[in-house]
Amino acid sequence: MEDKKDILILGIESSCDETAASVVRNGRQVLSNVISSQIELHKLYGGVVPEIASRKHIENINQVIEEALRQAEVTLDDLDAVGVTYGPGLVGALLVGVSEAKAISYAKKLPLIGVHHIEGHISANYIENPDLEPPFACLVVSGGHTHLVVVRDYGKYEIIGRTRDDAAGEAFDKVARAIGLGYPGGPKIDRLSKEGNAEAIHFPKAHVADAPYDFSFSGLKSAVLNYLNGCKMKGETVIAADVAASFQKAVIDVLVEHSMMAVKEFGFTKFAIAGGVASNSSLRAAMEAACRKNHVKFYHPSPIFCTDNAAMIGAAAYYEYLAGTRHGWDLNAVPNLKLGER
Ligand code: KG4
Ligand code: ZN
Repeated sequence: MEDKKDILILGIESSCDETAASVVRNGRQVLSNVISSQIELHKLYGGVVPEIASRKHIENINQVIEEALRQAEVTLDDLDAVGVTYGPGLVGALLVGVSEAKAISYAKKLPLIGVHHIEGHISANYIENPDLEPPFACLVVSGGHTHLVVVRDYGKYEIIGRTRDDAAGEAFDKVARAIGLGYPGGPKIDRLSKEGNAEAIHFPKAHVADAPYDFSFSGLKSAVLNYLNGCKMKGETVIAADVAASFQKAVIDVLVEHSMMAVKEFGFTKFAIAGGVASNSSLRAAMEAACRKNHVKFYHPSPIFCTDNAAMIGAAAYYEYLAGTRHGWDLNAVPNLKLGER
Protein backbone atom coordinates (compact mmCIF):
# COMPACT_ATOMS: atom_id res chain seq x y z
CA MET A 1 0.00 0.00 0.00
CA GLU A 2 1.18 3.52 -0.82
CA ASP A 3 1.68 5.97 1.99
CA LYS A 4 -1.07 8.62 1.82
CA LYS A 5 1.46 11.44 1.50
CA ASP A 6 3.11 9.87 -1.53
CA ILE A 7 2.42 11.38 -4.93
CA LEU A 8 2.43 8.88 -7.78
CA ILE A 9 2.74 10.26 -11.28
CA LEU A 10 2.48 8.44 -14.59
CA GLY A 11 4.95 10.02 -17.00
CA ILE A 12 4.49 9.68 -20.76
CA GLU A 13 7.06 10.58 -23.42
CA SER A 14 6.59 10.31 -27.20
CA SER A 15 8.29 13.41 -28.64
CA CYS A 16 10.68 11.59 -30.99
CA ASP A 17 11.41 7.91 -31.55
CA GLU A 18 10.96 6.39 -28.10
CA THR A 19 7.53 5.46 -26.75
CA ALA A 20 8.03 5.63 -22.99
CA ALA A 21 6.02 5.42 -19.78
CA SER A 22 7.11 5.50 -16.16
CA VAL A 23 5.64 5.60 -12.69
CA VAL A 24 7.51 7.98 -10.39
CA ARG A 25 6.94 8.42 -6.65
CA ASN A 26 7.47 11.88 -5.16
CA GLY A 27 9.45 13.06 -8.16
CA ARG A 28 12.55 11.03 -7.38
CA GLN A 29 11.76 7.34 -6.98
CA VAL A 30 11.33 5.52 -10.26
CA LEU A 31 9.00 2.55 -9.81
CA SER A 32 9.13 1.62 -13.48
CA ASN A 33 10.79 2.97 -16.62
CA VAL A 34 9.58 1.35 -19.83
CA ILE A 35 11.06 2.47 -23.14
CA SER A 36 10.06 1.06 -26.51
CA SER A 37 12.70 2.25 -28.94
CA GLN A 38 12.09 2.55 -32.66
CA ILE A 39 15.80 2.92 -33.45
CA GLU A 40 16.01 -0.36 -35.40
CA LEU A 41 13.23 0.84 -37.69
CA HIS A 42 14.60 4.35 -38.31
CA LYS A 43 18.13 2.99 -38.81
CA LEU A 44 16.97 1.72 -42.21
CA TYR A 45 16.44 5.35 -43.28
CA GLY A 46 19.50 6.86 -41.58
CA GLY A 47 17.41 9.01 -39.22
CA VAL A 48 14.00 9.48 -37.65
CA VAL A 49 11.12 9.43 -40.16
CA PRO A 50 8.35 11.48 -38.48
CA GLU A 51 5.35 9.66 -39.93
CA ILE A 52 6.76 6.25 -39.05
CA ALA A 53 7.46 7.53 -35.52
CA SER A 54 3.81 8.60 -35.04
CA ARG A 55 2.48 5.32 -36.39
CA LYS A 56 4.72 3.27 -34.09
CA HIS A 57 3.77 5.38 -31.06
CA ILE A 58 0.06 4.77 -31.64
CA GLU A 59 0.68 1.05 -32.05
CA ASN A 60 2.74 0.71 -28.89
CA ILE A 61 1.62 3.26 -26.35
CA ASN A 62 -1.06 1.23 -24.54
CA GLN A 63 1.24 -1.76 -24.12
CA VAL A 64 4.07 0.48 -22.86
CA ILE A 65 1.79 2.10 -20.27
CA GLU A 66 0.35 -1.24 -19.23
CA GLU A 67 3.88 -2.56 -18.70
CA ALA A 68 4.93 0.53 -16.71
CA LEU A 69 1.95 0.08 -14.38
CA ARG A 70 2.61 -3.65 -14.06
CA GLN A 71 6.29 -3.22 -13.20
CA ALA A 72 5.43 -0.51 -10.66
CA GLU A 73 2.76 -2.80 -9.20
CA VAL A 74 0.11 -0.09 -9.35
CA THR A 75 -3.10 0.51 -11.28
CA LEU A 76 -4.50 3.69 -12.81
CA ASP A 77 -6.53 4.07 -9.58
CA ASP A 78 -3.35 4.57 -7.54
CA LEU A 79 -2.16 7.55 -9.60
CA ASP A 80 -2.30 11.18 -8.47
CA ALA A 81 -1.56 12.81 -11.83
CA VAL A 82 -0.52 12.22 -15.43
CA GLY A 83 2.50 14.07 -16.81
CA VAL A 84 3.19 14.18 -20.54
CA THR A 85 5.70 15.79 -22.89
CA TYR A 86 3.78 18.30 -25.04
CA GLY A 87 6.78 19.92 -26.75
CA PRO A 88 9.20 20.47 -28.29
CA GLY A 89 9.35 17.55 -30.72
CA LEU A 90 7.70 16.02 -33.76
CA VAL A 91 4.07 17.11 -33.83
CA GLY A 92 2.56 13.77 -34.86
CA ALA A 93 4.67 11.95 -32.30
CA LEU A 94 3.79 14.38 -29.50
CA LEU A 95 0.06 14.18 -30.28
CA VAL A 96 0.01 10.45 -29.51
CA GLY A 97 1.35 10.95 -25.97
CA VAL A 98 -0.79 14.02 -25.34
CA SER A 99 -3.99 12.25 -26.47
CA GLU A 100 -3.19 9.21 -24.35
CA ALA A 101 -2.49 11.36 -21.28
CA LYS A 102 -5.73 13.26 -21.81
CA ALA A 103 -7.74 10.07 -22.14
CA ILE A 104 -6.33 8.64 -18.91
CA SER A 105 -6.72 11.85 -16.93
CA TYR A 106 -10.29 12.28 -18.25
CA ALA A 107 -11.32 8.73 -17.48
CA LYS A 108 -9.70 8.70 -14.03
CA LYS A 109 -10.37 12.40 -13.19
CA LEU A 110 -6.67 13.02 -12.67
CA PRO A 111 -4.76 16.30 -13.00
CA LEU A 112 -3.12 16.65 -16.42
CA ILE A 113 0.37 18.16 -16.44
CA GLY A 114 2.08 19.06 -19.70
CA VAL A 115 5.86 18.94 -19.43
CA HIS A 116 8.56 20.60 -21.54
CA HIS A 117 10.88 17.91 -22.91
CA ILE A 118 14.02 19.81 -21.85
CA GLU A 119 12.63 20.36 -18.35
CA GLY A 120 12.32 16.58 -18.33
CA HIS A 121 15.93 16.05 -19.36
CA ILE A 122 17.14 18.46 -16.65
CA SER A 123 14.89 16.79 -14.03
CA ALA A 124 16.45 13.39 -14.81
CA ASN A 125 19.22 14.58 -12.49
CA TYR A 126 16.83 14.52 -9.49
CA ILE A 127 16.20 10.79 -9.84
CA GLU A 128 19.52 9.46 -8.54
CA ASN A 129 20.73 12.53 -6.69
CA PRO A 130 18.53 13.04 -3.63
CA ASP A 131 20.71 15.96 -2.53
CA LEU A 132 20.37 17.93 -5.77
CA GLU A 133 18.17 21.00 -5.46
CA PRO A 134 18.18 24.27 -7.39
CA PRO A 135 19.93 26.57 -7.92
CA PHE A 136 22.42 24.93 -10.26
CA ALA A 137 23.67 25.18 -13.83
CA CYS A 138 22.88 22.47 -16.36
CA LEU A 139 24.25 21.70 -19.80
CA VAL A 140 21.52 20.09 -21.92
CA VAL A 141 23.00 18.26 -24.89
CA SER A 142 20.61 16.19 -27.00
CA GLY A 143 19.81 15.45 -30.62
CA GLY A 144 17.75 18.61 -30.91
CA HIS A 145 19.18 20.96 -28.28
CA THR A 146 22.38 22.36 -26.88
CA HIS A 147 21.45 24.70 -24.04
CA LEU A 148 23.37 26.03 -21.10
CA VAL A 149 20.64 26.57 -18.53
CA VAL A 150 20.54 28.23 -15.13
CA VAL A 151 18.01 26.37 -12.97
CA ARG A 152 16.98 29.14 -10.54
CA ASP A 153 14.31 27.01 -8.88
CA TYR A 154 12.08 24.07 -9.76
CA GLY A 155 10.41 25.08 -13.02
CA LYS A 156 12.36 28.36 -13.25
CA TYR A 157 14.88 28.34 -16.05
CA GLU A 158 17.09 30.86 -17.76
CA ILE A 159 18.90 29.88 -20.95
CA ILE A 160 22.29 31.62 -20.97
CA GLY A 161 23.78 29.86 -23.99
CA ARG A 162 22.49 27.91 -26.95
CA THR A 163 23.67 26.54 -30.27
CA ARG A 164 23.55 28.86 -33.25
CA ASP A 165 23.20 25.98 -35.70
CA ASP A 166 23.44 22.21 -35.15
CA ALA A 167 22.78 20.60 -31.79
CA ALA A 168 25.67 18.59 -30.32
CA GLY A 169 23.87 15.27 -30.88
CA GLU A 170 23.04 16.27 -34.44
CA ALA A 171 26.76 16.88 -35.09
CA PHE A 172 27.58 13.43 -33.68
CA ASP A 173 24.93 11.85 -35.92
CA LYS A 174 26.06 13.70 -39.07
CA VAL A 175 29.77 12.96 -38.55
CA ALA A 176 28.98 9.32 -37.79
CA ARG A 177 27.10 9.06 -41.05
CA ALA A 178 30.03 10.65 -42.94
CA ILE A 179 32.48 8.08 -41.58
CA GLY A 180 30.05 5.26 -42.29
CA LEU A 181 28.95 4.38 -38.76
CA GLY A 182 25.20 4.70 -39.29
CA TYR A 183 22.39 5.97 -37.06
CA PRO A 184 22.32 6.93 -34.22
CA GLY A 185 25.88 8.14 -34.36
CA GLY A 186 26.52 9.32 -30.81
CA PRO A 187 27.00 5.93 -29.11
CA LYS A 188 29.02 4.65 -32.10
CA ILE A 189 31.42 7.59 -32.09
CA ASP A 190 31.70 7.23 -28.31
CA ARG A 191 32.76 3.60 -28.71
CA LEU A 192 35.04 4.02 -31.73
CA SER A 193 36.83 7.02 -30.18
CA LYS A 194 38.29 4.75 -27.52
CA GLU A 195 40.39 3.10 -30.25
CA GLY A 196 41.49 6.39 -31.83
CA ASN A 197 43.94 9.21 -31.16
CA ALA A 198 42.11 12.41 -30.21
CA GLU A 199 45.20 14.48 -31.04
CA ALA A 200 45.59 12.99 -34.55
CA ILE A 201 43.61 15.66 -36.41
CA HIS A 202 43.16 19.26 -35.42
CA PHE A 203 39.53 20.29 -35.90
CA PRO A 204 38.44 23.89 -35.18
CA LYS A 205 36.64 24.77 -31.94
CA ALA A 206 34.06 27.37 -32.80
CA HIS A 207 33.37 30.27 -30.48
CA VAL A 208 30.64 32.79 -31.12
CA ALA A 209 32.25 36.24 -30.95
CA ASP A 210 29.66 38.26 -29.03
CA ALA A 211 28.11 35.42 -27.03
CA PRO A 212 30.62 33.52 -24.87
CA TYR A 213 28.12 30.83 -23.82
CA ASP A 214 26.72 30.10 -27.27
CA PHE A 215 27.80 27.13 -29.35
CA SER A 216 28.27 26.44 -33.04
CA PHE A 217 28.91 22.98 -34.45
CA SER A 218 28.24 23.34 -38.18
CA GLY A 219 31.79 24.60 -38.89
CA LEU A 220 33.24 21.59 -37.11
CA LYS A 221 30.98 19.26 -39.07
CA SER A 222 32.14 20.91 -42.35
CA ALA A 223 35.77 20.61 -41.25
CA VAL A 224 35.31 16.87 -40.76
CA LEU A 225 33.65 16.53 -44.19
CA ASN A 226 36.46 18.58 -45.80
CA TYR A 227 39.06 16.40 -44.10
CA LEU A 228 37.37 13.23 -45.41
CA ASN A 229 37.13 14.70 -48.92
CA GLY A 230 40.78 15.79 -48.82
CA CYS A 231 41.88 12.26 -47.87
CA LYS A 232 39.80 10.80 -50.69
CA MET A 233 41.29 13.18 -53.25
CA LYS A 234 44.84 12.50 -52.09
CA GLY A 235 44.17 8.77 -52.00
CA GLU A 236 44.99 8.64 -48.27
CA THR A 237 43.37 6.06 -46.02
CA VAL A 238 41.02 7.51 -43.43
CA ILE A 239 41.50 6.19 -39.91
CA ALA A 240 37.88 6.39 -38.78
CA ALA A 241 38.76 5.96 -35.10
CA ASP A 242 41.11 8.98 -35.23
CA VAL A 243 38.47 11.11 -36.98
CA ALA A 244 35.87 10.06 -34.39
CA ALA A 245 38.18 10.73 -31.42
CA SER A 246 39.44 14.08 -32.77
CA PHE A 247 35.91 15.26 -33.61
CA GLN A 248 34.59 14.14 -30.22
CA LYS A 249 37.41 15.97 -28.45
CA ALA A 250 36.64 19.20 -30.34
CA VAL A 251 32.98 19.01 -29.22
CA ILE A 252 33.80 18.10 -25.64
CA ASP A 253 36.48 20.79 -25.22
CA VAL A 254 34.01 23.52 -26.16
CA LEU A 255 31.20 22.09 -24.00
CA VAL A 256 33.50 21.87 -20.98
CA GLU A 257 35.08 25.29 -21.55
CA HIS A 258 31.75 27.13 -21.84
CA SER A 259 30.20 25.26 -18.94
CA MET A 260 33.08 26.01 -16.57
CA MET A 261 33.14 29.66 -17.66
CA ALA A 262 29.45 29.92 -16.72
CA VAL A 263 29.94 28.12 -13.43
CA LYS A 264 32.71 30.54 -12.44
CA GLU A 265 30.98 33.68 -13.70
CA PHE A 266 27.68 32.85 -11.91
CA GLY A 267 29.39 31.35 -8.85
CA PHE A 268 27.56 28.01 -8.96
CA THR A 269 28.68 25.19 -6.69
CA LYS A 270 26.58 22.58 -8.51
CA PHE A 271 26.71 21.64 -12.17
CA ALA A 272 24.66 19.01 -14.02
CA ILE A 273 24.51 17.55 -17.52
CA ALA A 274 21.48 16.14 -19.30
CA GLY A 275 20.23 14.82 -22.65
CA GLY A 276 21.33 11.97 -24.91
CA VAL A 277 24.87 13.27 -25.44
CA ALA A 278 25.31 13.46 -21.65
CA SER A 279 25.66 9.67 -21.74
CA ASN A 280 28.92 10.09 -23.69
CA SER A 281 31.64 8.50 -21.57
CA SER A 282 34.41 10.95 -22.53
CA LEU A 283 32.17 13.97 -21.95
CA ARG A 284 31.25 12.67 -18.50
CA ALA A 285 34.91 12.07 -17.62
CA ALA A 286 36.00 15.50 -18.91
CA MET A 287 33.19 17.30 -17.04
CA GLU A 288 33.92 15.35 -13.88
CA ALA A 289 37.60 16.37 -14.01
CA ALA A 290 36.81 20.02 -14.81
CA CYS A 291 34.26 20.24 -11.98
CA ARG A 292 36.70 18.72 -9.52
CA LYS A 293 39.34 21.25 -10.55
CA ASN A 294 36.87 24.09 -10.09
CA HIS A 295 35.52 22.75 -6.76
CA VAL A 296 32.06 22.28 -8.19
CA LYS A 297 29.86 19.27 -7.44
CA PHE A 298 29.14 17.35 -10.64
CA TYR A 299 25.77 15.68 -11.28
CA HIS A 300 24.78 13.41 -14.15
CA PRO A 301 21.96 10.94 -14.72
CA SER A 302 22.70 7.27 -15.51
CA PRO A 303 22.84 6.77 -19.30
CA ILE A 304 19.32 5.26 -19.35
CA PHE A 305 17.95 8.52 -17.89
CA CYS A 306 20.04 10.67 -20.31
CA THR A 307 18.46 9.48 -23.55
CA ASP A 308 14.70 9.93 -23.97
CA ASN A 309 12.65 8.28 -21.24
CA ALA A 310 9.47 8.94 -19.28
CA ALA A 311 10.93 8.80 -15.75
CA MET A 312 12.39 12.25 -16.37
CA ILE A 313 8.91 13.45 -17.40
CA GLY A 314 7.43 11.99 -14.20
CA ALA A 315 10.12 13.75 -12.16
CA ALA A 316 9.52 17.11 -13.86
CA ALA A 317 5.74 16.68 -13.62
CA TYR A 318 6.00 16.19 -9.85
CA TYR A 319 7.58 19.60 -9.31
CA GLU A 320 5.07 21.18 -11.71
CA TYR A 321 2.32 19.40 -9.72
CA LEU A 322 3.63 20.91 -6.47
CA ALA A 323 3.78 24.34 -8.14
CA GLY A 324 0.10 23.99 -9.09
CA THR A 325 0.53 23.53 -12.83
CA ARG A 326 -2.64 21.96 -14.27
CA HIS A 327 -3.38 21.81 -17.96
CA GLY A 328 -6.91 21.86 -19.37
CA TRP A 329 -8.65 19.71 -21.95
CA ASP A 330 -7.35 22.09 -24.60
CA LEU A 331 -3.73 20.98 -24.07
CA ASN A 332 -2.14 20.55 -27.49
CA ALA A 333 1.23 19.45 -28.85
CA VAL A 334 3.56 22.44 -29.29
CA PRO A 335 6.43 21.38 -31.60
CA ASN A 336 8.52 24.52 -30.89
CA LEU A 337 7.63 25.02 -27.23
CA LYS A 338 10.05 27.37 -25.43
CA LEU A 339 11.52 26.43 -22.05
CA GLY A 340 9.64 28.20 -19.27
CA GLU A 341 6.44 28.74 -21.34
CA ARG A 342 3.15 27.42 -19.98
O1 KG4 B 1 17.99 13.21 -25.61
P1 KG4 B 1 17.93 12.32 -26.78
O2 KG4 B 1 17.68 10.86 -26.55
O3 KG4 B 1 16.84 12.80 -27.79
C1 KG4 B 1 16.60 14.17 -28.03
O4 KG4 B 1 15.88 14.81 -27.24
O5 KG4 B 1 17.17 14.64 -29.04
O6 KG4 B 1 19.30 12.51 -27.58
C2 KG4 B 1 19.59 11.79 -28.72
C3 KG4 B 1 20.96 12.21 -29.20
C4 KG4 B 1 21.34 11.60 -30.55
O7 KG4 B 1 21.85 12.62 -31.37
C5 KG4 B 1 22.42 10.60 -30.17
O8 KG4 B 1 23.36 10.39 -31.20
C6 KG4 B 1 23.05 11.27 -28.96
O9 KG4 B 1 21.96 11.81 -28.26
N1 KG4 B 1 23.77 10.31 -28.11
C7 KG4 B 1 25.09 10.35 -27.88
C8 KG4 B 1 25.41 9.23 -27.08
N2 KG4 B 1 24.25 8.55 -26.84
C9 KG4 B 1 23.26 9.23 -27.49
N3 KG4 B 1 26.03 11.24 -28.30
C10 KG4 B 1 27.30 11.01 -27.91
N4 KG4 B 1 27.67 9.95 -27.16
C11 KG4 B 1 26.78 9.04 -26.72
N5 KG4 B 1 27.16 8.01 -25.97
ZN1 ZN C 1 15.39 14.22 -25.59
